[in-house]
Amino acid sequence: MAINLAAPLAWTKANAEETQMLQALQGNILKGHGRNTTANIFFKLDPTKQLVSRRMLRQLANERLTSALKQLLDSKRFKDTGQDGDPFVHLALTSKGYDAIGLGAKAPADPDFKSGMKAAGSITALSDPAVATWEAAFQQDLHGMVLVATDSESRTAAEAVAIKTMITDAGGTVVHTQHGKALRNAAGEGIENFGYVDGRSQPLLLQEEIDAETETAGTSRWDPTFPLSVALVKDPGTADGFSFGSLFIFRKLEQDVRQFKTREQVIADSLGLTGEARELAGALIVGRFEDGTPVTLSDEARGGPPANNFSYVGDAGTRCPFHAHIRKTNPRGSGGAEPEPAERKHLMPRRGIPYEDVKREFHPAELPQSSSLAEFNSKVAPLLPTGGVGLLFMAYNAVIAQQFKFTQQVWANNSGFPVPGTHGIDPVIGQGPSNPADQKIKKTWDDAASLTLNNVDFKGFVKMKGGEYMYSPSLTFLFSL
Ligand code: HEM
Repeated sequence: MAINLAAPLAWTKANAEETQMLQALQGNILKGHGRNTTANIFFKLDPTKQLVSRRMLRQLANERLTSALKQLLDSKRFKDTGQDGDPFVHLALTSKGYDAIGLGAKAPADPDFKSGMKAAGSITALSDPAVATWEAAFQQDLHGMVLVATDSESRTAAEAVAIKTMITDAGGTVVHTQHGKALRNAAGEGIENFGYVDGRSQPLLLQEEIDAETETAGTSRWDPTFPLSVALVKDPGTADGFSFGSLFIFRKLEQDVRQFKTREQVIADSLGLTGEARELAGALIVGRFEDGTPVTLSDEARGGPPANNFSYVGDAGTRCPFHAHIRKTNPRGSGGAEPEPAERKHLMPRRGIPYEDVKREFHPAELPQSSSLAEFNSKVAPLLPTGGVGLLFMAYNAVIAQQFKFTQQVWANNSGFPVPGTHGIDPVIGQGPSNPADQKIKKTWDDAASLTLNNVDFKGFVKMKGGEYMYSPSLTFLFSL
């Protein structure tokens, strides 16, 4: 019996073959590792030492990498007993990395993976900034990345040292170590640097997670059930039927928090919002309030666990604007360009984590409230970072052109999406040419007859600092090196 990629997987009821698949698959793909601190170690190998490099990768797989099965068992034990698991460790290789170990023929055929994120075609398609403006480390031809994650910075650092030693002992070079650190609000929800709950809406690939979601949050209006095929790709480096990997997207996205939060205040003033109601301005940009409440459901933050059982049925942009980040990146059947089943094929499991290269003055969830732009400018803005903090965007894809690349290019960067009409680019991640007048907001929430704020002009506060397309191979492949 072959693994059924057309459905999610009930891992606690896995049959022998599915168990073999979970042992061969790396963790973090089916479910996020959930640890609070990370180190992304970007490395190069010495192409004149192919055998030594292969042996090192084999050893890494044997001694350090975390299988999907181990991750799931560890997280179940943590839930049941509170006992902390081992460090989570994950490997992804670039196309050039496969070449450096002499196994280019065993690499995935995905054309975007093969040409890489620095390719001129990719830069043009995504309207990414020129490679010369990226952080120096990402301008280089990287061969791979090891992701280390634990719940303590010192433990992550210690594990990272051990792995870097393995790489350098094999003649490799550690090009850059990027640290990530989860941010949480008072309710314990993960947030990003603009202060919003992030990571709430995900394609769910494990039946157990789908069942829990159905029971707690409901799945009647948005079905988070996705087939394994949304992320799993048969590992071309193996001949068996149970070894899978996934195409891995990495992008370092710097956030200009000061300008983003300032622009929110400008919108709040333009909409005549006062007091707590000023929060609505940001929700009309992101699609959720900072606490995660979807703006299509409410004009104020509701508190409690962020809902995800919603769609945009009956919302012609009067509650959640068409440009809002979460509506652009998951129109939930309201995109107009494709039938819903086709639209769902563009979604992907996201596994991002914030970074803080420069220490912040304020925790993003604890910004003092301002009653006007002027007050914000004098009290808050000067203490907010204009750079040095951001999101390490990570995601797993089955086909890059259909998922990450499509989302960025055809949805986020495209003023004409959803169809029909022009609604502006995604105010959070949209890149490339845009007309400031296209993003529109109804002056009164849920009132189609109200006046429209036309010149929203919200963009440019997230800057891509570098990234790469990689593949997270099966452990079977790595054991065979
Ligand atoms: C610094 C950059 C980014 C920030 C600050 C950001 C922020 C957020 C926030 C606050 C949410 C709402 C929480 C949730 O529904 O999970 C969200 C959701 C989402 N984001 Fe982003 N994001 C960023 C980059 C990206 C990128 C690069 C993509 C893809 C190209 C992306 C795709 C998505 C998707 C698909 C959702 C879920 C939408 C849904 O299912 O309703 N994001 N993001």
